[in-house]
Amino acid sequence: MEGLTYDDVLLIPKRSPIKSRKEINLSIELTPEIKLNLPIMAAAMDTVCESAMAIALARMGALGVIHRFNTIEKQAEEVKRVKREENYFLERPLTIAPKTRLKQIIELSEKLNNRSFLIVDSENKLLGLISKRDYIFETDLEKEVEEMMTPFEKLICVNDFISLPDAKQFFRQHKIEKLPVVEKDGKLKGLITAKDVIQATNIRAVRDKKGRLLVGGALGVKSDCYERARELVSAGVDILVLDIAHGHLEVCLETTRELKKSFPWIPLMVGNIATEEGARDLREAGADIIKVGVGPGAVCTTRIVTGCGVPQITAVLAAKKGAQDVPIIADGGIRTSGDMVKALAAGAQAVMLGNLLSGTDEAPGRLTMWNGRKVKLYRGMASFAAYENKNKGLNNKETEYFTAEGVDQAFVPYKGPVKDLLLAWQGGLKSGLSYCGAKNIKELWQKAEFVKITQASLRENAPHDVEQA
Ligand code: XMP
Repeated sequence: MEGLTYDDVLLIPKRSPIKSRKEINLSIELTPEIKLNLPIMAAAMDTVCESAMAIALARMGALGVIHRFNTIEKQAEEVKRVKREENYFLERPLTIAPKTRLKQIIELSEKLNNRSFLIVDSENKLLGLISKRDYIFETDLEKEVEEMMTPFEKLICVNDFISLPDAKQFFRQHKIEKLPVVEKDGKLKGLITAKDVIQATNIRAVRDKKGRLLVGGALGVKSDCYERARELVSAGVDILVLDIAHGHLEVCLETTRELKKSFPWIPLMVGNIATEEGARDLREAGADIIKVGVGPGAVCTTRIVTGCGVPQITAVLAAKKGAQDVPIIADGGIRTSGDMVKALAAGAQAVMLGNLLSGTDEAPGRLTMWNGRKVKLYRGMASFAAYENKNKGLNNKETEYFTAEGVDQAFVPYKGPVKDLLLAWQGGLKSGLSYCGAKNIKELWQKAEFVKITQASLRENAPHDVEQA
């Protein structure tokens, strides 16, 4: 019995036909609905992925999974934020009543991260539009929106959703940023925005059939699972992620079957497992995608607390056998783009990252100073701190029996915008595939060959015998 992880192996360089990294295609199909252009996912952790991270990732062709360590309402709102962000036509734009006061508009705009609202009457007839520039210098917080809005008569509107080129033409011709769609009787049907039209031309982004960015939502196996799933689905989530530390528990198999019965049209990712049998059982239970990794994560203490786990390369290789043609995701323990290439080469369709994303602008949480350095907080979701936060105010008797399997509070260096990191990793992934002679991930699975290394070569792998300036 031998278990190997990322640092135990290297990929053997192969004869390669590749002339330029432009020839390499990193896209991957997880399900017919979920295709990624960059095989990276954000972990469903409260210090990693809410809407800002999911939006940034989807724009780059990757996927964020909104964490479940908050109320169902808050999680569903985060999903809606992603779905609203880049839909070049919004079927249900945000609306307010004509008597709404300025102070309420300001509150709403902060809460929903939205700068303009359409004003409708009780029959959903469009009365006007208000944007930040209409009230930015207004001092009377009690003023009603109907006194400040641009009235319907002055708005440029269309009667139906129009094509992307036509929308561009409209914005150019009329020098406007918002184009309401109204029925002939004046009832509001939707909204097209200039910002979304610009974004919609980004071909790298991953989108649903309506042009909205893709996003996942996590669930646990506990009591609120089905209600959470229902709310996430009605918020427009593209993939449900059943997320449990030991995904080979029978209750997880049962929940997988039930979720597939209740929501057969929504792709379901389930994990985590680390064995061939675990992957086989999840596949047989109906999982559409299987997540692999027991204990490799940067803030995991599972292996220390329980003595259980499987080193990640071995786990991915084993899971691939059990999963057969069900895609697998290598979750946890990835520290470099080289590790990502190794995870894909072992059979994963994509990698899931927590630590590597947690120091970026888009990760939830404030930037702080620690020992003179800019840092952000990162913590394990099975930590006592995360558990206490989730059960705040619930007077949960189980708290006294809770056994933590994660680090309560870790600081990670601040890393700036996630896009810069994604671009660097994309470069590393493409170079890795090129060394292996592979033009895409499927070819990588066929051509990759690992060599097991020694402690001496581990030293040789990194810069050595020099003082780095
Ligand atoms: P990285 O190494 O990218 O790993 O930070 C992210 C993954 O770690 C898992 N995770 C945990 N595992 N205790 C654990 O044993 C925890 O408290 C914990 N929190 C997160 C999770 O699979 C995540 O995607």
